[in-house]
Amino acid sequence: MSQPLPIRFQSTDLAALATATGRISLPVEAGATPTPGFRRLDRLTRGALTRAVGSEAFTRLKPGEGLELAFPGGLAAEAVQLLRLPRRTDQAAARKAGAAIGRAHGAANGAGGTLVLAESHPRAADLAFGLAMRAYDFTAHKTAERPKPGPVTLMLARPESVARAAGPMAAVAEGVFFARDLVNEPANVLTTQDFAARLAAMHELGLEVEILEQDQLRTLGMGALLGVGQGSESPSKVVVMQWRGGPKEAAPFALIGKGVVFDSGGLSIKPAAGMEEMTMDMAGAGVVAGVMRTLALRQARANVVGLVGLVENMPDGRAQRPGDVVRSMKGDTIEVINTDAEGRLVLADVLWYAQDRFKPSGMIDLATLTGAIVVALGHENAGVFSNDDDLCNAFLAAARAEGEGAWRMPMGEAYDAKLKSRIADMMNVGGRDGGAITAAQFLARFVRPDMPWCHLDIAGTAVLKADSTLAPKGATGWGVMALDRLIRDRYETR
Ligand code: BES
Ligand code: MN
Ligand code: ZN
Repeated sequence: MSQPLPIRFQSTDLAALATATGRISLPVEAGATPTPGFRRLDRLTRGALTRAVGSEAFTRLKPGEGLELAFPGGLAAEAVQLLRLPRRTDQAAARKAGAAIGRAHGAANGAGGTLVLAESHPRAADLAFGLAMRAYDFTAHKTAERPKPGPVTLMLARPESVARAAGPMAAVAEGVFFARDLVNEPANVLTTQDFAARLAAMHELGLEVEILEQDQLRTLGMGALLGVGQGSESPSKVVVMQWRGGPKEAAPFALIGKGVVFDSGGLSIKPAAGMEEMTMDMAGAGVVAGVMRTLALRQARANVVGLVGLVENMPDGRAQRPGDVVRSMKGDTIEVINTDAEGRLVLADVLWYAQDRFKPSGMIDLATLTGAIVVALGHENAGVFSNDDDLCNAFLAAARAEGEGAWRMPMGEAYDAKLKSRIADMMNVGGRDGGAITAAQFLARFVRPDMPWCHLDIAGTAVLKADSTLAPKGATGWGVMALDRLIRDRYETR
């Protein structure tokens, strides 16, 4: 997998600045007393830093943005990057400044690496986290030799304490990278088999990983999930990942992910234009796996179980037909009007299995479920649907704290009524209007009455066509940070 770049935490060494090659980055607060590092660089460059900070361009920068001095006289470095970042700043601005360093570091060709003069900045660990997150690059299928960027070193007044704070953040970055890799991977590589194998490998981290194969799923009665995968050469699977870091007897919290490794639409086939994007239709499962990885890496003191339904939605001779009626594990029957509304069929059975086996204290599912949520919220917010205000508000607060957009959507009986079928217990679609909501209503039918539950429709946030603050274009890993935060704040014993 793509590993977050290693960051070294060192004591500030002013004497090393003149001869440091590569890049030098430093946070600067205009008007404040300059740090020792700033003063040293300013002296070596005969006042170039003071001039830059006094410039019109610098005053126009927003917190977290930077300005660059190229090939500064008096230094061996090829660039000095000045980041506008006050000492008293928020996490978001510090991460953004770190991301600006990470982006420039990744673009640099030299082996000189990047030296970050963070000194005694109170947000140094957030700076390091933003740097690591933005330096992500999916190169698995690029054959050209590319120069590896050199090392990243943070120079600090108290390196040990920053390194300690950065430890759990590195676990989050690695979970996000794992999710991004899975989402970026094409469907001929990331088959259900390959996906399951990558999850099984997390056994090494102390997770208990089980793979339920097709015949077991049949025995369990998962007719809804199996119907989706029956037109594919790749066998359907459910993977269960357990992390038991909490009290032995405490019920786990459950995370459930839609893992459609490719969604052709099935016989209700999608148009050619844009179909290639449906390699990302397993992002819900990817994010669940990313969170589980993070929890294991940082030895979270909570019991969490991650369950993913891995299937491929393809249209061969055995494929499910529009009009077929399938029977879910719960026992309810479903008339499959549209084979392209497959994610809810997968989730129905995995949701039921999660409750049946684990009696969780609550559950959150993630799915690239509907195009309708993209129409409603664009790419800035995921849709949040819930039957429990407490859990929902806790999730929304966690998402806000991590800067991941999330917006609650309504539910209600009138939407549910759209799913009425003439010949079965329900249809799998409720019409075009309010499509993301009727999809959530469908899922709600597979949630037990007193089970606190949230459904996150991440169709708009899982992959972006443009760079965002913490990610280059492509998979974002949206949700790993928020869910890790939710578990930390609400479920961990201290
Ligand atoms: N995987 C798609 C939803 C999707 C759309 C994800 C765009 C990411 C970006 C889902 O399986 C799907 O096809 N949904 C249909 C449902 C419809 C048939 C009721 C849709 O949204 O069009
Ligand atoms: Mn579909
Ligand atoms: Zn889908």
